[in-house]
Amino acid sequence: MTQAETKRVAILLSGGGSNMVKLVESMQGDHPARPCLVLSNDPQAGGLAKARAMGVEVAAVDHRPFKGDRAAFEAALMEVIAPYQPDILCLAGFMRILTEGFVSQWTGRMLNIHPSLLPKYKGLHTHARALEAGDAEAGCTVHEVTPNLDDGPILGQARVPVEPGDTPDVLAARVLTMEHKLYPAVLRRFAAGNREMLTLS
Ligand code: GRF
Repeated sequence: MTQAETKRVAILLSGGGSNMVKLVESMQGDHPARPCLVLSNDPQAGGLAKARAMGVEVAAVDHRPFKGDRAAFEAALMEVIAPYQPDILCLAGFMRILTEGFVSQWTGRMLNIHPSLLPKYKGLHTHARALEAGDAEAGCTVHEVTPNLDDGPILGQARVPVEPGDTPDVLAARVLTMEHKLYPAVLRRFAAGNREMLTLS
């Protein structure tokens, strides 16, 4: 893989960044991509320190001063992202809703991981909702981002069983271990041009 062919990946997060860590760790050797930036909407996000410690450039655009003006917040995000010239954006626990104006600039180039077996349980509290529904299995999905929340072509899914006595936190931890396998596996394929759905269990 020549430098010109290597894809540049920017990762957006809001929290601890465990998925980001797995993505960055995966982008080595013959992997077709490399991380170029980790960006958070929360300057205090734990993921920023982890990325810095791994030698990845980091930045933050605090959404709060924008007071709900999503377009202005997204313009500020784009200003930070643009100089890094990423080929792919990975949302990894990025907890801001992005508008069509932003998403449409990254059509076919932006991925998200969601902790449910989409199309089930878009939005928040996915694990509690799976338990309330009495589902026998849960899981996670990596999909291309389109303007509708947690929608867009599915690139990969991983399933876990729901065990008797599971709480939302226990189930979330079981799903998270699969997120850490699924997201790097999907990104690797995606960066190489493969958009066929990957199933892990
Ligand atoms: C993950 O469960 C992700 O699917 C969800 O937020 C969580 C982020 O965890 N959207 P982390 O910041 O990657 O540890």
